[in-house]
Amino acid sequence: MNTMSQNLPKHDIKDPNLADAGRQRIEWADRHMPVIRLIRERFEREKPLKGLRLAACLHVTTETANLARTLKAGGGEVTLCASNPLSTQDDTAAALVCCYGISTFAIRGEDNDTYYRHLHDALSSKPQITLDDGADLVSNLHQKETQWLDGVMGGTEETTTGVIRLNSMAEEGVLRYPIVAVNDALTKHLFDNRYGTGQSTLDGIIRATNLLLAGTRIAICGYGWCGKGVASRAKGHGADVIIVEVDPTRALEAVMDGFRVMPLAEAAKVGTLFITVTGNKHVLREEHFRAMSDGAIVANSGHFNVEIDLEALERLSKSQRLVRPLVREYEMEDGRRICVLADGRLVNLSAAEGHPASVMDMSFANQALAVEHISRESKNLSNKVYTVPVEIDRKVARLKLESLGVSIDQLTPEQDRYLKSWTEGT
Ligand code: ADE
Repeated sequence: MNTMSQNLPKHDIKDPNLADAGRQRIEWADRHMPVIRLIRERFEREKPLKGLRLAACLHVTTETANLARTLKAGGGEVTLCASNPLSTQDDTAAALVCCYGISTFAIRGEDNDTYYRHLHDALSSKPQITLDDGADLVSNLHQKETQWLDGVMGGTEETTTGVIRLNSMAEEGVLRYPIVAVNDALTKHLFDNRYGTGQSTLDGIIRATNLLLAGTRIAICGYGWCGKGVASRAKGHGADVIIVEVDPTRALEAVMDGFRVMPLAEAAKVGTLFITVTGNKHVLREEHFRAMSDGAIVANSGHFNVEIDLEALERLSKSQRLVRPLVREYEMEDGRRICVLADGRLVNLSAAEGHPASVMDMSFANQALAVEHISRESKNLSNKVYTVPVEIDRKVARLKLESLGVSIDQLTPEQDRYLKSWTEGT
């Protein structure tokens, strides 16, 4: 094994002996990430990030490892910490440190204090660019560790929840540097949020429970891109899918996509598996737990562990125990049992491996190119949340299509002119 036996970068990981296994899995993921590979090859040659300090707070997975390798190949000095206490793959973290020389602070199952200490460790690298998934790094930097703020030229944000938080900061006028919302690139959310969350959420639920989805009545709370993905995949498995929404347009979409739509108070009585993907808090709460039938299973695939009101469930129950790894059963006073997966943390990364590499390829290609964009353009950006430049988004789509061996047509010059003109009518 070509590990770096000495001069390891700063780190706090579970076990360096896991590095070999981690590297094998990182290389496997890399096979399915052709776009990030192409960017890495160019970054190797051009070194667009030379000497830039980058702090990334992301899920520490094999796919993230390939992004970190790419940023390092571009000349960046990368420090990585986890964006969730339960999503770290310890073998990946070990390989990042021992094989790829990337400073990493992440241990699966770390407690809250350790989680925030790791954020602090990443920020102590005095980053010039931040990469965030959920905006904890940016939030910490603005509220607690303000001493590093002045040196930051810009940052990126990976997920819907983070973009919502950052938009609130920008609206309140407290955001101190520009952010590129990678989540809002079409080649990110149309694929990662929909197909990635769709597949990996069910993957996590199946790995945790070994449930047969065919015939299972699943209530999915939230019909954004993530909810749409979970619903369509669950339907494909033969599940009886119910959608719960608060937004009338999304609810209408769900109806016309062929799903039953009803309030959660109704769904709670008939569902047997409940999945939250809303980005909001206390979606499943006391009144719903009271209505659920014996054996109901609840899981969350939203970013934070706030969607299921676990305190209410604890209050209502007389005992709890782990009945399988990552399956906690609460026994209610009346004898009904409700099982919570992965303690309400995002089930796709806690109970499975997150989105497959092929879809993270596009998300992380956007990340790498957005970081390059910030490094070039930060002087022309203000303290706002920006979308990924459309040229980057389209380039990622083209490269992905190419890697899939798919070619597409071009407009003829006549069609091009027609689309730009207004004089021709009937
Ligand atoms: N978010 C969802 N899936 C992921 C993965 N595989 N790696 C990093 N972040 C993710």
